[in-house]
Amino acid sequence: MASVPSLAATLHQCLAEALSASVPQETPADWLDPMLRRSDRADFQANGMLALSKRLKTSPRELAGLVVESIPANEEIASVEVSGPGFLNIVVSDASVLRNLAARSDDERLGVPYAESPGTTVIDYSQPNVAKEMHVGHLRSTVIGDAVTKILEHRGETVIRRHHIGDWGTQFGMLIQYLIEHPHELDHASDTADARDEGEAAMARLNRLYKDSRLLFDSDEEFKARARDRVVALQAGDEETRNLWHKIVDESKTYFHAVYEDLDVEIHDEDIVGESAYNDDLQQVVKDLESSGVAVRSEGALCVFFDDVKGPDGTPTPLIVQKSNGGFGYAATDLAAIRDRIGKLGAGTVLYVVDARQALHFRMVFETAQRAGWLPAGAARQLAFGTVLGKDGKPFKTREGESVRLVDLLDEAKQRAAVVVREKAQDLTEEEIEERAAQVGIGAVKYADLSNSMTRDYVFDLDRMVSLQGDTSVYLQYAYARVRSIFRRAGELKPAVHPTLTLKPAERALALHLDEFGDTLTAVAEAYEPHKLAAYLYELATLFGPFYENCPVLKAESQQVAENRLFLCDLTARTLREGMTLLGIRTPERL
Ligand code: ARG
Repeated sequence: MASVPSLAATLHQCLAEALSASVPQETPADWLDPMLRRSDRADFQANGMLALSKRLKTSPRELAGLVVESIPANEEIASVEVSGPGFLNIVVSDASVLRNLAARSDDERLGVPYAESPGTTVIDYSQPNVAKEMHVGHLRSTVIGDAVTKILEHRGETVIRRHHIGDWGTQFGMLIQYLIEHPHELDHASDTADARDEGEAAMARLNRLYKDSRLLFDSDEEFKARARDRVVALQAGDEETRNLWHKIVDESKTYFHAVYEDLDVEIHDEDIVGESAYNDDLQQVVKDLESSGVAVRSEGALCVFFDDVKGPDGTPTPLIVQKSNGGFGYAATDLAAIRDRIGKLGAGTVLYVVDARQALHFRMVFETAQRAGWLPAGAARQLAFGTVLGKDGKPFKTREGESVRLVDLLDEAKQRAAVVVREKAQDLTEEEIEERAAQVGIGAVKYADLSNSMTRDYVFDLDRMVSLQGDTSVYLQYAYARVRSIFRRAGELKPAVHPTLTLKPAERALALHLDEFGDTLTAVAEAYEPHKLAAYLYELATLFGPFYENCPVLKAESQQVAENRLFLCDLTARTLREGMTLLGIRTPERL
């Protein structure tokens, strides 16, 4: 079905026409913005006449009056009046509000438009490191990346996921060499059937391997030398070395997937394309950068310099593409990845959901790729996210000063959620309580992350996250469950729209907000701002409260009113559900 323009969009159109009819013909088109927004005083206010009259050197009130007279015939506007220095206050008709919502409701997509010219986006997110625990930074990248991916796909964009995991580098020489000398290090009895336990066990084995090999590496010079040779063998593709490397990577993937399952995000193996995947392209990257002069040798290293990137002492800080010993680092891999993503995957946009502390790295990488002609200007963007803080306002750590294991954190969230769910549970079985606790707990963690603007740091506070009061996912989940409970009691009553009815204020407020869903999603997708979707949903749940209290549904004064209110309930529930699904949050039918 076709998308449904919002009332705001229709009004905007109407006013833009009136405006253009009210001014001299030669007035530039881009001056003709009515600047329409929602308002408390009426439904909408337009104050574009103020700026325009200044430019035209006329009186704003007079211009506003002309605009009112020039408004084309329409069904939307119930009243419009000039107010203040030259605003327009506009009230829309109940019938048009309801008709618009009916059209939205008839559409599977709730009237949400597709992007005008969808393209291909490669999104680099959830990039944990092999043989290492996942931490809160990986939580943010995973949760934000998952939401942005869903939101873009919903608009019709082709999205290619890339999980740029840390699966390459000198530390693998150490791990593999240790495995060669201690072939049973990763052995284990039999796997448990439970994916979560299996993942935990895999991580425990990797931790042991890491510790044991590190110990030897730091204390035994000869082992250290053998480990260094092993890196060379790995890069040269030696078979035994490769097999053991695979073993370590696979063990890690078992662990990652267990965490992803816990987190309720879908990550596919074919999208896990780690740093190692670009190994064969690195020489070419170096050659091209050097021959084009984009990079130069400096003290043996291949460097790219920037006028505005300097260290504290004023000397330029280069991006190092190749170290003086010939080794490649993080930057070289990212450059090779850009070439692949733009050149081979055909991306029009490449996104990187990565910690803001890596902003300088990406600025230099993007600039380098642009100079080299691999990246069109403006095609790459880091969706930089802030740091997760503890209650002390410092980066979130355990009491021992170690980074917090993601799995422990998720467990705790689920336990806290179980308490909340149990308290409210009326007729839930133990099994249902456990299932809901996972949906509530994981939803709480995701929502707390997504409802803050991405760049901001936020405090990880589980008490607040699972609270029923305030801007939390549990609040939204309860609102959803409450609407659904009305349907369980509705019996024969079915939702139906009756545009002849007069709406109460609480109904209008809810209805006008529902009408904004499509516009909100468009803005959210275009600016990559999931927190604005979260804010929209929170407002929706909040508006449902007064509606529910002041506008009885099942005990309404007439069947028509009851059906109409049930219709508003239905659209509220579907909108909440759609929005939360795009954020990766479950909406249980009962809580
Ligand atoms: N593995 C890195 C980390 O754990 C993040 C990788 C980000 N992506 C990239 N293309 N550099 O911090």
